Amino acid sequence: MRQGSFCYVKGAPVLEGRALTKFYTLGKERVRALDRVDFTAVQGDFTVVNGPSGSGKSTLLNLLALIDRPSEGEVLFDGQPTGSLPERALAALRREKIGLVFQTFNLIPVLSAAENVEYPLLLTRTPRAERRERVREVLAEVGLADLARRRPDELSGGQRQRVAVARALVTQPRIVLADEPTANLDSATGTQIMELLRGLNGEHCVTFVVVTHDPAVIPYAERVLTIRDGRIVGEERRGEPRPA
Ligand SMILES: Nc1ncnc2c1ncn2[C@@H]1O[C@H](COP(=O)(O)OP(=O)(O)OP(=O)(O)O)[C@@H](O)[C@H]1O
Ligand SMILES: [Mg+2]
Repeated sequence: MRQGSFCYVKGAPVLEGRALTKFYTLGKERVRALDRVDFTAVQGDFTVVNGPSGSGKSTLLNLLALIDRPSEGEVLFDGQPTGSLPERALAALRREKIGLVFQTFNLIPVLSAAENVEYPLLLTRTPRAERRERVREVLAEVGLADLARRRPDELSGGQRQRVAVARALVTQPRIVLADEPTANLDSATGTQIMELLRGLNGEHCVTFVVVTHDPAVIPYAERVLTIRDGRIVGEERRGEPRPA
């Protein structure tokens, strides 16, 4: 399947959280970071979860990404509960079906842009010729075809985030989860990254969940969930995503 041509069938729930509660223990104190959160991301959705610092956004994202497990409640992928899956099966789901984008880009400093993007394909044992082709296509898609050999320290912040987006997409995941993807970028560059994500969502029907406290991200959402003190306190549908 060519990177440029794939598009998932829209409409089925891809990732669901049911009554997700998460406690962290700090010394003798127990912090309730999430409180019975219900969440559904449907294939093709572009959801923004907005809320202030400490409201539970990253906690929710890490549960949905199957990086961390809830204290109570269940995360379902494609309708299948994940709570009783062994770590190996969770790791396979993360590798093959979920793409992640972080505020700090999290690129490997000694690898070139192309090698960073190729890395997830090594983990999925994708054959070499297909790896080359996919990396080439996805780097072109994020506008970095000419910078493939540069290392992260030879790229701007916006370019680094494009590499991270390419790395998240190269496995053709069903869903991409992004934690504050614009937080380390100036506003014009942040806008370009959001336009890129929205374009990729339209092109491939990859589901996106972006958590942020940046109000500039909201106009790109089809759906905005507001989180406060670990609870979803609002949901707004905005129709087709459109920048302000
Ligand atoms: N590992 C941890 N141990 C203890 N408490 C934690 C831990 N991680 C998060 N918390 C607490 O859980 C709550 C939610 O944190 P979380 O990181 O999910 O918030 P956030 O909305 O992502 O904030 P920010 O916008 O600053 O990234 C906060 O009160 C935080 O202090
Ligand atoms: Mg956070």
